[in-house]
Amino acid sequence: MADGLAIEPTAPMELPAHDAAGVVCTELSVIIPTFNEVANVGELVRRLETLLHGIAWEVIFVDDDSPDGTAAEVRRIGRSNPRVRCLQRIGRRGLSSACIEGFLASSAPCLAVMDGDLQHDEALLVPMLEVLRHEPVDIVVGSRYVGGGGIGDWDRSRARMSAFATRLSRLVLHAEVGDPMSGFFMVRREAMEGAVRNLSGIGFKILLDLFASAPTPLRFRELPYEFRERQSGETKLDAQVMLDYLMLLADKLIGHIIPVRFFLFTLVGSLGVAVHLLTLTLAYELLGFTFITGQTVATVAAMASNFLLNNYTTYRDRQLKGWGLLRGFVSFCLACSVGAVANVGIASYLFSNSTEWLLSALAGVIVGAVWNYAVTAVYTWKS
Ligand code: GDD
Ligand code: MN
Repeated sequence: MADGLAIEPTAPMELPAHDAAGVVCTELSVIIPTFNEVANVGELVRRLETLLHGIAWEVIFVDDDSPDGTAAEVRRIGRSNPRVRCLQRIGRRGLSSACIEGFLASSAPCLAVMDGDLQHDEALLVPMLEVLRHEPVDIVVGSRYVGGGGIGDWDRSRARMSAFATRLSRLVLHAEVGDPMSGFFMVRREAMEGAVRNLSGIGFKILLDLFASAPTPLRFRELPYEFRERQSGETKLDAQVMLDYLMLLADKLIGHIIPVRFFLFTLVGSLGVAVHLLTLTLAYELLGFTFITGQTVATVAAMASNFLLNNYTTYRDRQLKGWGLLRGFVSFCLACSVGAVANVGIASYLFSNSTEWLLSALAGVIVGAVWNYAVTAVYTWKS
């Protein structure tokens, strides 16, 4: 493993250290990503208090500035309970990236990730820690799909979707994990540090990301648990989360060759060609506009659809809204117009120097696409 982070295989983990004053140093950090979980965090802390009695633990809530005031509630609890910390992120979203920042804010040798909505069975934390203390494994996974585990009251369609997503994950997974999509696990700090620079940090699936990013296959154990029903608040799993999942897979599969954003950007661009031709057909063939008018309308329609699609998919994490959307559209059109000039310029230069017409056109398209991507990444969706 890189950077001398290799894990001694069989030695049991050292017991928690004390500082000079005899204060026990934290052995376990429970990282809990939250978004609008104000009604759940108090109960969760109460349960951890009872359950982890006798263990040197802390909990780090990583909250993405929830409008329901989750962060303030966590800090309120933290004022009377020093084990409770809040890491509040402003202007950011994402379960995986929240977990990564939680990991990096902790010094503990054992790191657990658990949902903040009481759906994960916190009682599993104790046997998970026991496994890390005494067995040569890097990570213990709370699994819905091994004997004794279950998916609670999920309806058929969500169950089917989860099973399908799990099958897809085999593309990037280097281990036979039964439930790689689990959001509930405990990992050794060394194993996390070995993978952290390769993590994609996209979307919901931090466990899959860890498995796929570790430089050497992670040694794991799975412990069954039953996924509980949500009592308060609502799930954030939506179509976007599924798209994020595909982006994570793409990043793991081809991210080392081309950036997944560029891939999506060109995908959207190809869709734009279809929008263009459709609009042109409608305007010119069916509605009887002149070709020039049709072509102009089609160009604007394609640019608008490309801009909006990129705003909602490729750059979802930097999504423009309100006036920013308008300003973004103007800069997008400006950038793409220059891109179009470059495209035509390169293509005609090559063509006039006796390059095949198809090759000339393709070269123009590629140069235009790279230009559009690079310029809009900096000016339209600046991070
Ligand atoms: N910081 C942060 N930012 N937290 C988030 C975000 C976000 O953008 N989106 C969701 N969360 C938090 C929620 O508040 C909750 O504590 C946890 O992440 C899980 O979100 P849910 O919306 O409740 O997800 P779920 O119940 O549908 O699915 C969960 O369980 C599955 C089974 O273990 C997730 O953990 C899935 O990844 C997992 O497969
Ligand atoms: Mn949930």
